[in-house]
Amino acid sequence: MKIVTHPSIKSYFDADESRQEVEQAFSRGLAYAGHSLMVPEKFSYQVLPHFNDRYALFNQGENYELISNVCLHRQAQLLEGQGRARSIVCKLHCWGYDNTGQLKGAPHFKDAPSGQLKKESLSVWNGLLFRGRSPNMGLSALGLEDYLDFTDYFYAGSETSEYQFNWKTFIEIYLENYHVYS
Ligand code: FES
Repeated sequence: MKIVTHPSIKSYFDADESRQEVEQAFSRGLAYAGHSLMVPEKFSYQVLPHFNDRYALFNQGENYELISNVCLHRQAQLLEGQGRARSIVCKLHCWGYDNTGQLKGAPHFKDAPSGQLKKESLSVWNGLLFRGRSPNMGLSALGLEDYLDFTDYFYAGSETSEYQFNWKTFIEIYLENYHVYS
C-alpha cells in the first residue's frame, strides 16, 4: 500500500483538483457566515466582505438571513457597510426591496415586475451563524462553554486579507509558523 504523506505538486496548480477539493471537502464542511453580534438589533444588516460583498447578513428578529446584495435589475450592488434598514433602494434606478429581499417597487415600469432577492436562513450556534448545518457538539459536556461565551462582547469591525495562492500553501505556512503537529 502506498502511503501518501503530502499532496502532489500538481494539486497546487491544477484547476480540476481545486474544483474537486471544493466539492468533496469544503462544501461538506461547516460554512461560517458571520456572527450575530455583527447585526445586534432587528433590521440590522452587515455586508460581508468575506463573500466579496455578494451577500448582506440581516437580523430579521426571529432569525438571521443572508440576502443577496445584487439588484435584480442591472446587478448593481445594493448595500454597503453596515446599518439598519427596513427597506433597500438601489442607487442606480431606484428599484426598492423590503428587508426580506422582496421587490416592492420599480419606478418607470408600466407593468411592475415581481421578484425576490436570493436569500437563505442561517443556523445559529452559540452566536455563530452557519449556512446549512451547524456544529454538532455540546460545549458544556466538553468543558468548553467559557471559550465560546460572547456575553459583554460587541462587534467592532472586520479585516479581510486575500492571498493569491492555493489554500494548501497557507495551511503549510500556518503549521510551520505555529508549530502545530499535523
Ligand atoms: S440596477 Fe438596481 S435599479 Fe437598476
